[in-house]
Amino acid sequence: MKVLGTDEESLREAAKIIKKGGLVAFPTETVYGLGCDGLNEKAVKRLFEVKKRPANKPVTLHVSSISQIKKVAEINDVAKKLIDLFFPGPLTIILKKKDVVPPITAGGSDRVAVRMPACDVALKLIDLSGILAAPSANKSGGISPTSAKEVAEEFGSEIDAIIDGGETKIGIESTILDLTVKPAKILRTGAISVEEIESVVGEVEVVERKGHYRMKAEVVIAEPEEILKIAKVEVLKGKKVGMCVSNKLSIPEELTKKVEVVTFRDVKDYSKKLFYAMRKLGNLDTVIFQKVEEKGVGKAIMDRLRESSSV
Ligand code: TXA
Ligand code: MG
Repeated sequence: MKVLGTDEESLREAAKIIKKGGLVAFPTETVYGLGCDGLNEKAVKRLFEVKKRPANKPVTLHVSSISQIKKVAEINDVAKKLIDLFFPGPLTIILKKKDVVPPITAGGSDRVAVRMPACDVALKLIDLSGILAAPSANKSGGISPTSAKEVAEEFGSEIDAIIDGGETKIGIESTILDLTVKPAKILRTGAISVEEIESVVGEVEVVERKGHYRMKAEVVIAEPEEILKIAKVEVLKGKKVGMCVSNKLSIPEELTKKVEVVTFRDVKDYSKKLFYAMRKLGNLDTVIFQKVEEKGVGKAIMDRLRESSSV
């Protein structure tokens, strides 16, 4: 596995690997994706094998232009409005697929997910390589990676290359909106909020997800004022404890010595560090995550915490 930079020459090399059917991990503004030629059935098959992804779970196509969207999907009026407003950006829309999309990419369905990442490296790569099928660059059921190092830990030599674009800006995956049903459904919350989506498409249903962000630790989601008490009790029980909390919480010194801590400045910083914290603290016995208001990206954080605590 090659680690590539983000300069033009490196991206050309990555595109060459992709055109030959290879697997290349790359940064987006949300998380790292594991990309391959989305219209090459054989390449997508290898992608599924490496990720250990169930065959009926479709993958998102990443595009860098409207003409690429038109190539793979039927754009209706609502989709057009959303594309105008939010593309490129952390939004994935599900549309009726066109025949050029192989069944494996669409998980055997007649629908395809499309996203245009707001990340220059990703857009440039797609310009050079063509439409990319790209799930998050982690083994199925695990935690999405937000750095090239984490991708290397997931896959090592199982993939052909990683483009190291540093840490991702948003840190949690895109909002997924299914426009093939009425009313439209949000299949995963993200940085584009439910409120923003509803201002365009009217009321939507938000579906609860299951089966992601597997950790060894028991996950506790707690109000700021409960966190220290819970941590002390767990430490007394002899547990290895971690917590992900606001930097405004003042932690007594005797506890800082015994507990691993990840801090965040505000909700945006929390979303950026959430998966880092899950990876860093997830192998302890108990991890306490601070509750946040279920508004905007705060809802996306809380949904992921609830999901991780239910597996
Ligand atoms: O931010 C993101 O969306 C990242 C970056 C890499 O772009 N990608 C990502 O991909 O999170 P993935 O595969 O880990 O999550 C995409 C989700 C999956 O749960 C998949 O089942 C769903 O989107 N999905 C993809 N195509 C679909 C389709 N045609 N119908 C229904 N769900 C679909
Ligand atoms: Mg994923």
